[in-house]
Amino acid sequence: MLTGALALSACGPGAKSQTVPADLPPLKTMAPFRIGTCVQALHLDDPALAGLVARQVSQLTPEWEMKMEYIVQPDGSFRFDAPDRIAAFARAHGMGLLGHTLVWYAQAPPAFQALDESRIKFVDAYRNYILAVAGRYRGQVVGWDVVNEAVAEDGNGWRDSLWSQKLGAFEHIALAYRTAREADPQAVLLLNDYNLEYNPRKRATFLKLAERLLSSGAPLTGLGTQMHVAADIEPSKIREMMRDLASLGLPIHVSELDISLSEAENKLLSRSDLQRRQAAVYGETAQAFMALPERQRFAFTLWGLRDRDSWLRKAHPTDAPAPFDDAGRPKLGAAALVEAFRG
Ligand code: XIL
Repeated sequence: MLTGALALSACGPGAKSQTVPADLPPLKTMAPFRIGTCVQALHLDDPALAGLVARQVSQLTPEWEMKMEYIVQPDGSFRFDAPDRIAAFARAHGMGLLGHTLVWYAQAPPAFQALDESRIKFVDAYRNYILAVAGRYRGQVVGWDVVNEAVAEDGNGWRDSLWSQKLGAFEHIALAYRTAREADPQAVLLLNDYNLEYNPRKRATFLKLAERLLSSGAPLTGLGTQMHVAADIEPSKIREMMRDLASLGLPIHVSELDISLSEAENKLLSRSDLQRRQAAVYGETAQAFMALPERQRFAFTLWGLRDRDSWLRKAHPTDAPAPFDDAGRPKLGAAALVEAFRG
């Protein structure tokens, strides 16, 4: 539970809305681990947003420009202009950079699909990609989401993809970790997935995959839980997930946290009920993370600081899932994060 006035306003039914203290300290100053957000290169051209990012966070995850969809061109060549800009911004501001993501079932660029295997073997093209990308950012990234969303939606087994078909269901995953390690001896190599709080079966499959990777000798060194959640989530689900993930002893990354109002299933809750729940869930998530042993707190990343920049706006134009409003003013969720990080 949150303490103090904020908790009362966040939880009490019909409580008056509470304003955020004008002198709320920046998120990154409150936490003994890195606080992150996702960014796109074009965000850095918006001085208000770039300023907010520089003030509030100490780590950046490229929102999509370090994925194959951006990097791999139709002719099979690579481009790095946008991710290089994000990396330069992170460096200039003394921030960590989280590589996202090397292998994702959802992205199978045409150049890979049309590969002329009489000229280059699929496995070599796959390895070349990982070596080129992870090699380029060696020494610049703190870690990589090496494989993203490997577990099937319903938690029964793993995703089917171009990579699994060509290289094998388990082998393409293990190979990605071994190759990323070859390219970057230092980076934390993470396995990242979503719905791990909502779906215990998916969480169990995720943890079994992690254990199998470890026992095969693959250099998996961290676990990422995306946490795209809705404001009516039960807090116990978050605590249970955090406890289960921690059981392997690896560092944990809350990697893409946002808390949707529009995706809440409880239609009895009003928008202001949901806004209060959202603030509480921001706080509860930070508390669950703070409860991890110190060496297991890798970083805590928000999937966007301002509501207006959120990817969820595409599907839900009136959603407001972030801790800062459209104008970049802290919402109650930002205050709840600060309160929880303060400990
Ligand atoms: C999303 C981005 O936010 C969008 O801008 C992009 O168009 C699609 O991808 N899980 C992930 C992220 O791991 O990479 C996704 O990001 C959100 C879901």
